[in-house]
Amino acid sequence: MSINGKVALVTGAGQGIGRAIALRLSADGANIAIVDMKEDKMKAVADEVRKVGGAGRKATTFKADVTKRDDVFAAVDHAEKEHGGFDIMVNNAGIASIQPISEVTSEELDKILKVNVAGVLWGIQAAAKKFKDRKQKGKIISASSIAGHEGFPLLGVYSATKFAVRALTQAAAKEFASAGITVNAYCPGVVGTDMWVEIDRRMAEITGAKIGENYDKFVGGIALGRAQTPEDVAAFVSYLAGPDSDYMTGQAPMIDGGLVYR
Ligand SMILES: NC(=O)c1ccc[n+]([C@@H]2O[C@H](COP(=O)([O-])OP(=O)(O)OC[C@H]3O[C@@H](n4cnc5c(N)ncnc54)[C@H](O)[C@@H]3O)[C@@H](O)[C@H]2O)c1
Repeated sequence: MSINGKVALVTGAGQGIGRAIALRLSADGANIAIVDMKEDKMKAVADEVRKVGGAGRKATTFKADVTKRDDVFAAVDHAEKEHGGFDIMVNNAGIASIQPISEVTSEELDKILKVNVAGVLWGIQAAAKKFKDRKQKGKIISASSIAGHEGFPLLGVYSATKFAVRALTQAAAKEFASAGITVNAYCPGVVGTDMWVEIDRRMAEITGAKIGENYDKFVGGIALGRAQTPEDVAAFVSYLAGPDSDYMTGQAPMIDGGLVYR
């Protein structure tokens, strides 16, 4: 119960990895502000969080589009107001984009940069401001990827956004260290969420492979011999959110079952 009573905000918590993070941090003892664009999914996760967390555990929902700076600042204000504090920011929301480098359009580039890069930047800004205003320490944790350490075919633009998350993480860690704020990222490998269903579908469309073939190929390269679950990622985020990681900042380790090695 190392984060017992702390307040955590998780973006993109309506499903997938964000949902698992919300449930795990709740089980660890935190009260959770669930932030996403999908209201019905957020409500379902909030109900689950209340069950997992047990009596007294609070879960609130706030609809926000992380591409909008004002939305993200409002989400942080919501967390503080509704939960009476603010300690942990998880910038998890992200989207994928699958196409050959030579076919990337200006619209596709703008869209993914706004979610995966601007969305994380606004989250870092909003959380750091809140921690400083409250004159307290805090933890900022963002979603990068194995694709943030290595460029993969058809995932070039996605990779670029996840490299950018590592850059923001390192710079913010250095800027905010003196305020007692740590900034880290997590780099999952191949997690069987809706995102990978879409990656596999698009890869099949482009390469002519069967549905599931590209996913199986990626999973086949994992040393530990299985695809990753959202809970595998959440367990590492739990460490980053808790006091055991207090001496760690500016880092973006792989949590991928042994797929990319740095
Ligand atoms: N699935 C993987 O294998 C994998 C691997 C490495 C990194 N990641 C990263 O982990 C994070 C979560 O991935 P996932 O697999 O759970 O994805 P997912 O598609 O299953 O869920 C993403 C969630 O983010 C929300 N979201 C998207 N755009 C948003 C916006 N503009 N504002 C607010 N919410 C928004 C969606 O509504 C959804 O609930 C992403 O940043 C992703 O890039 C995933």
